[in-house]
Amino acid sequence: MSYAEEIRKRRTFAIISHPDAGKTTLTEKFLLFGGAIQTAGAVKSNKIKKGATSDFMEIERQRGISVATSVMGFDYNGTRINLLDTPGHKDFAEDTYRTLTAVDSVILVVDCVKGVEEQTERLMEVCRMRNTPVIVFVNKLDREGKSPFDLLDELEEKLQIHVRPLSWPIGMGDTFKGVYNLYDRKLYFFSPNKTRVSDDMVEISDLDDGMLDEKIGKFAGQLREDVELIEGVYEPFRQQDYLDGYLAPVFFGSAVNNFGVKELLDTFTRIAPPPGGRPTDQRVIGPAEKEFSGFVFKIHANLDPRHRDRIAFLRVISGKFERNKFFHHVRLDKNLRFTSPVNFLGQDKNLIEEAYPGDVIGLYDTGNFKIGDTLTEGEDLQFQGIPSFSPEIFKELINTDPMKSKQLEKGIQQLTDEGVAQLFTQQPGNRKVVGTVGDLQFEVIQYRLLQEYGASCRFAPVNLAKACWLTAGDKKKLADFLRVKAHSIAHDKDGNPVFLAESDWVLRMTIQNNPDIQFHFTSEFKTAVTA
Ligand code: G4P
Repeated sequence: MSYAEEIRKRRTFAIISHPDAGKTTLTEKFLLFGGAIQTAGAVKSNKIKKGATSDFMEIERQRGISVATSVMGFDYNGTRINLLDTPGHKDFAEDTYRTLTAVDSVILVVDCVKGVEEQTERLMEVCRMRNTPVIVFVNKLDREGKSPFDLLDELEEKLQIHVRPLSWPIGMGDTFKGVYNLYDRKLYFFSPNKTRVSDDMVEISDLDDGMLDEKIGKFAGQLREDVELIEGVYEPFRQQDYLDGYLAPVFFGSAVNNFGVKELLDTFTRIAPPPGGRPTDQRVIGPAEKEFSGFVFKIHANLDPRHRDRIAFLRVISGKFERNKFFHHVRLDKNLRFTSPVNFLGQDKNLIEEAYPGDVIGLYDTGNFKIGDTLTEGEDLQFQGIPSFSPEIFKELINTDPMKSKQLEKGIQQLTDEGVAQLFTQQPGNRKVVGTVGDLQFEVIQYRLLQEYGASCRFAPVNLAKACWLTAGDKKKLADFLRVKAHSIAHDKDGNPVFLAESDWVLRMTIQNNPDIQFHFTSEFKTAVTA
């Protein structure tokens, strides 16, 4: 197969949803269609179960699962599909954001009873930032939910994206009859069945056809009215609008009953974008470039406590990755080769010889990688758009076993390389402030430092509300600022100065009083914050 064909046949995407909307169920059905798994129940939910013994034990369980489900590759009708998993818990939102940098499109699952929930909105904000194409799957139509028109309004309003239904439900809950596909003009009949692989369907190209009344009786009139309204109100579906992230096609179905899933998958393979390019500090690099490049968006460490093994997940952007070939690690300015890179087919890891744009590969790592690292065939460039965000919760890390300071130091460095949290060091005294987006991470860090590094610690509260990265056109002005504000300055892991603000008010005042200094909410320094 030629290089161009390899790229054309790939689709790399993620399924995202608020917990419980049906992401795991839908993922499982996709894998069944792709032949990647044989039985239902093979995919374990990665959400933190409520009422579990303790949250961090649950996270360990989840961590074990999520290495197996981080990437699920399968072939479907000649398309190579790479489905990337995202964590289910909101405290791991940053992990999800990073995973979304590695996909070319997403399927968003919404529960028809609950509508658009909080986490759905946050995830969608990230998609909008990068104009990621989105297909919406409204799930659980076997339950009595909100009216489909209300759901569409809610999607448009809360997700700030135009929508266009491509299928339309007939009845709902106990009266759910099926869906009419507005794109291929077929009527799909619903019957609760968890194992079915193909839908019971008739083609009805003209809704005035008497067959419609024969098939769905009194629901026929309502469907005709609804479809007329849809055609009148919503813009026609244009693939380009979807690819531009301007319009999201919407499907209705029931994942657990495997209803509407095949239709969704078929449409997805037809309209979703093949592997795209990504901006670097030099230019946008796309798959048409033949020289290899890619970036690390996720690191999994210490899965086996007996070995310090880590897997770095790398998304290939251009060129061909080859086993045993030397590639350039830009940040370290070092050439590395990989003797046992893996890909993920179904639930298995397989040694690979080569990989193409769109693929996600696992590289065994002995500590060379951090999230955001770029590998190339020699060129010095850095992929953009994988920033650290300003954390929301801060605590001071206190060593409770002075004999284990070295282990603690190493452990916290490695865990923050993985992106579990951010580390800011303050001088004098080497004071370590850990910043996260959720409370759960502190438990995770404490637990993992002890289990994996034998280092015990506790977290002390600190009075901080925001961390901002700092730059200035005039180096001397920055140095002056750092000196005057020394008590509020720390350094991130890469040595960049960071202003730690006690409150939003303090931050606002500091910004106002220091017009020569730029304050940034992400480590990528793209958007400065002004007072
Ligand atoms: P998540 O990954 O988005 O968190 O959701 P997940 O797939 O785990 O689904 C959450 C719950 O919703 C599960 O029930 C699942 O069976 C159910 N579900 C998924 N799709 C549908 C659907 O189309 N209709 C209905 N009625 N339910 C659906 P659970 O009771 O939490 O778990 P389980 O014991 O059934 O596995």
